[in-house]
Amino acid sequence: MTKLIFAAAIAAAAVLPAAAQTNDPDVGKLPAGPMKAVVEQNCTTCHELGRIVYGNYNAAEWANNVHMMMNAGASLTPDQVQPMIDYLVKSFPEKPGNPFKAVAGPVKVSIKEWELPVPGSRPHDPLAAPDGTMFYTAHMGSYIGHLDPKTGKFDVFKTKTPISGPHGLTMDKEGNVWYTGNFKGYIGKLNPKTGQFTEYKTGAARDPHTPLFDKNGILWFTSQNSNMVGRLDPKTGDVKLAVVPTEKAAPYGMVFDSKGKLWFSEWQKPKLAWIDEKTMEIHEVNLPNTATRPRRIAIDANDVIWISDYSRGYLGMYDTKNGATKEWASPGGPKSQPYGITTLNGIVWYDEGNTKPNGLVRFDPKSEKFQTFPVLPSGGGVVRNMMPTADGKGLVMAESGVNHVAIATIQ
Ligand code: HEC
Repeated sequence: MTKLIFAAAIAAAAVLPAAAQTNDPDVGKLPAGPMKAVVEQNCTTCHELGRIVYGNYNAAEWANNVHMMMNAGASLTPDQVQPMIDYLVKSFPEKPGNPFKAVAGPVKVSIKEWELPVPGSRPHDPLAAPDGTMFYTAHMGSYIGHLDPKTGKFDVFKTKTPISGPHGLTMDKEGNVWYTGNFKGYIGKLNPKTGQFTEYKTGAARDPHTPLFDKNGILWFTSQNSNMVGRLDPKTGDVKLAVVPTEKAAPYGMVFDSKGKLWFSEWQKPKLAWIDEKTMEIHEVNLPNTATRPRRIAIDANDVIWISDYSRGYLGMYDTKNGATKEWASPGGPKSQPYGITTLNGIVWYDEGNTKPNGLVRFDPKSEKFQTFPVLPSGGGVVRNMMPTADGKGLVMAESGVNHVAIATIQ
């Protein structure tokens, strides 16, 4: 795993001396050229060079990466932008990668994509609104986007705090959009009618990740690197936090079962967990394979949790009623990196983020059969999250690395 220092590193970047040199072990992999020194200086303050030298991107994706990093706080002068893109495209040309695996099946899917109005947005999570429109978080662009798919019109709501890293999002009954300020340790509320933002600090939970309302209107959230689960009472702004018993577990995706019990995945451990809503006591459940890394989870009408096993390339299931587990190798293979996942009408849908192009995967739990669809024309660029559209006929998807959002319509 690549080292990543989030908000702290971004703050530190601003105070680093101009001549900061890197002792990154991969520095020798940067080909000579006028931009080499600029990469060493400006691209090593927040993460390892591994992100760059082992990246596998086409020219459009490299250009988007550079815009994303500038949005995140990398300091490049305007005259360095194009030479930087050219240097990265030339030095690290796209490799064949893990191929998309086509599997035929019973349904038809058409994917419609929209290019985002802000370069380098990194759309992280999508939200299907009840009126048929969609919202999304721009993790690097630091805004909440809104798209009306009928007209193709976008609205951009810049966060009050710059470089907030909006990550997950959800909606309350009044139509306000709530999101996690992943880089700045807060939960934000956007009233899309007025454009007004309100921020609620999350204290020791530095990097709030995924938000979800319970039936009483309490907002629950995971905080990945802080290793916590929290709850925010929107009426009072009161925040309560619970530390996950396993160290460095990285609490990640979350779902409620039909009884209102909150489940989450521990993405750096082979574990799921649930939290007692009153005592905030956390109960962990071990998954059978110790190499499993459950990234996101989805739940179906039978209270079965579906797991994207990112590290092994599997689709897993865990039955909350009796603890039964089962798993299936994902069509794209062990390196396919299953990621964004949801259920719709008894079918499981998820993305293979590390096939070229990404595979949108359909799995029917009754027949235990897969079907796959290439995420084209953009390639998908890692669909980190997806959810059913309001009419239940399709899925909204955020295509993080290619600056697009999409709707997959299922026939
Ligand atoms: C201010 C901090 C910061 C600086 C400086 C920075 N990056 Fe990043 N970079 C990030 C963050 C944050 C991520 C995404 C982390 C995550 O996975 O959530 C990222 C991810 C990436 C990725 C992977 C793309 C992706 O979508 O995950 C690439 C490639 C990358 N950076 C290249 C660069 C290059 C090239 C530079 C120099 C021009 C640079 N970075 C400078 C913060 C930074």
